[in-house]
Amino acid sequence: MAIVVFGSINIDLVTYSQKLPRPGETLHGESYAINLGGKGCNQAAAVARLGGDVQLVGRIGSDDFGRTATALLKENCVSTKHITTDPEANTGLATIGVDNNGENCITVIGGANMAVDAEDVQRNRDLFSRAELLLLQMEIPLEPAMIAADLVRRGGGKVIFDPAPVPRDGIPKEIFERIDIITPNETETELLTGIYPTSHKEATQAAKVLLDRGVQSVILKLGAKGCCYCAPGEMMVPIPPYKVDAIDTVAAGDCFNGGLAYALSQGLGMVEAVQFAAACGALSTTRAGASSSAPTFDQVKLLMKDDR
Ligand code: RIB
Repeated sequence: MAIVVFGSINIDLVTYSQKLPRPGETLHGESYAINLGGKGCNQAAAVARLGGDVQLVGRIGSDDFGRTATALLKENCVSTKHITTDPEANTGLATIGVDNNGENCITVIGGANMAVDAEDVQRNRDLFSRAELLLLQMEIPLEPAMIAADLVRRGGGKVIFDPAPVPRDGIPKEIFERIDIITPNETETELLTGIYPTSHKEATQAAKVLLDRGVQSVILKLGAKGCCYCAPGEMMVPIPPYKVDAIDTVAAGDCFNGGLAYALSQGLGMVEAVQFAAACGALSTTRAGASSSAPTFDQVKLLMKDDR
């Protein structure tokens, strides 16, 4: 089953320090790294690392970071065939701080990602029309993302939407009706529904708000508390977290979504696919980096076998 990711490609400039600085504070860190990132790119790399059939559609700039990204994409086994080099924009950039507990904070400068438009959809029309699963995030403009979503759904495919980062003015109601599976984390859930899910009851309430807006199914990513799956007319299914030693949570959510798409493409049912995705997300936290932190199929199977 062919998976298409339409999304961002960034270079991540990452600093590792004991703690994250407070506003106005300067502190000495321990090390830094220049990594391949971007939520779209990370999701594509996650599918590729598992052995899935995936194509990434997006833009980079014609700058040094663009050349670095191209080389790293190849290293991560992600095809660059559907990636356009934009002569007028810089490659997307993220500055990321990671502390000793593996927590992070991220600032993204969209650059070429935010120049993505309907032309990118047109150029790849056939690819979108044939896609069986489309992975979207919110680091490219919503309008081309929704044109692609409509093409995929018209062709009988499904759309997995990661509302990350949630735009300041929220997401218009008509967007939800074009999404098959939405996968917010706790903060995104609160921004979208007004409910921060700290309990089973609150998670169910938040999922219901999203289902009432027209989404086909909801997966809430609850970090160290695991995740839960909810569909109309069904009881919410809680999926407990996998126990791992987390050192870096960057891209955990992206590896989750890549894993989810891979599992669905292999014919797994929703609950089994969410369990597989949760294992992918958990394993990614045991490695530093973004795209490069995605686990292999064997690593995921081993964790699922050992943990349960
Ligand atoms: O989800 C993690 C990603 O968010 C990073 O790779 C960074 O590029 C930002 O897009």
